[in-house]
Amino acid sequence: MNKEYLIIQQSSILHGSVNVSGAKNAVLVIIISLILTRGKSTLHHVPNSADVLILIHVLRNLGALVEFNAEDKILCVDTSTINSYAIDAEIMNKMRASILFMGPLLGRFGKAHVALPGGDLIGARPINYHLQGFAKCGVNIIENRPFIEAYLPKTATTDPIRIVLEYPSVGATENLIMFAAVRTGETIIINAAIEPEVLDLIDVLKKMGANIICYPGLMIKIIGVTQLNPITHAIIPDRIETGSLLLAAAITKGSINLPNARADHLDMFLEKLKEMGHVVKTGTNPTDEYPLQGISLRASNHPQGIAVKTGTYPGFPTDLQPLMMAALCLTHGTSTIEETVFENRFIHVKELQKMGAEISINGPIATIRNVDSLYGCEVIANDIRASCALVLAGLVAVGETKMTGIYHWKRGYDQLEKKLAQLGADITLVEHEQSATIFTESYL
Ligand code: UD1
Repeated sequence: MNKEYLIIQQSSILHGSVNVSGAKNAVLVIIISLILTRGKSTLHHVPNSADVLILIHVLRNLGALVEFNAEDKILCVDTSTINSYAIDAEIMNKMRASILFMGPLLGRFGKAHVALPGGDLIGARPINYHLQGFAKCGVNIIENRPFIEAYLPKTATTDPIRIVLEYPSVGATENLIMFAAVRTGETIIINAAIEPEVLDLIDVLKKMGANIICYPGLMIKIIGVTQLNPITHAIIPDRIETGSLLLAAAITKGSINLPNARADHLDMFLEKLKEMGHVVKTGTNPTDEYPLQGISLRASNHPQGIAVKTGTYPGFPTDLQPLMMAALCLTHGTSTIEETVFENRFIHVKELQKMGAEISINGPIATIRNVDSLYGCEVIANDIRASCALVLAGLVAVGETKMTGIYHWKRGYDQLEKKLAQLGADITLVEHEQSATIFTESYL
């Protein structure tokens, strides 16, 4: 029971320079997209997170040959030997992103056997936009809960298809683009997601030989090709880890430099940090073209409360909402956060309240009132980003914070505790050798 935990002591000012890992939400879908190719691809900047290890396990089960150099963050995947189109229901349950196998498996085999991923604590997380999009392309879908069998009949339409997403869903956009990349004919996605991770996937697919055009107004056109080729690609830096590190420096009134972070992926978030009073500087590019690489922050000694509303890109990322909330507990004045992406993404509030935070919730809006101090205690992380919010609070809480639910922390971050310690945080991951071994053996 709770064999693993993080111990965080009230820490001194965080200060220093670290590099940000490859983006979790980009690497997962990009690894899955390799199924569309036949041959050996190499990915650089691959974070050594639990979700990546799970995907390696799934790819091997499908027949791929995979080598992961976790130290150098290089992943080599040979997809020539993939011979299965079925994903284990247990894996689908562990990781919601595994629904993204559907598009590439349909693209490669014309068939996919997957399971419904189910909801989680932050929301019901349906996949109706994914399924409706596939159906529009002529895919037959048989739902036999929890299993889904999908196949593309030989007689499926090759006419141009317009898919209108009711909401610019990241996952649905990615799944449909991957399928459409090899679907005979032209597919247009209207109201598509344009998060940096989606654009990194599009970059990869284009390198493979896909014909994809992004238009203004959230419209993406894909003209199917018959073959996609293996690639070499470096994953973009993780904008959520970037935000986590900037907030860690802000909350401890420190300063930080992130030389490889992408400022152009976080404009709204950086504006909010400035509104709080922090000094944020971003790298410049002499040609005035992206990427704006490098972000540094010097924290204000008297940060102010702000109003935040989450939204799709380029809005404030929902994945940074729990962390921003932790930081706003100690800023002057009253702050508000409106969560518009997930219907239940305030699960971290109860744990922050245990630490002394004054937060009240009214539907999708949380009101955060300034307190003088937070206090260390035992808290439970129930989701990836909630785990980091509690770590941030622990850095400034009086005394010791013990956080369980480490599984979530390990899913989303590549040893972030080590980067925080390098910057001056007093944080220790207590692992049970036995559970660490079991995890590694079962997924590698
Ligand atoms: C991805 C990210 C997640 C991030 C989220 C929003 C990955 C692995 N995860 O999740 O970290 O928080 O984008 O930026 O990339 N929805 C439906 N029907 C659907 C699909 C989505 O109703 O078929 C709803 C969801 O319940 C949610 C909203 O749309 O309320 C946004 O979800 P979506 O953009 O699809 O998020 P994910 O791709 O699951």
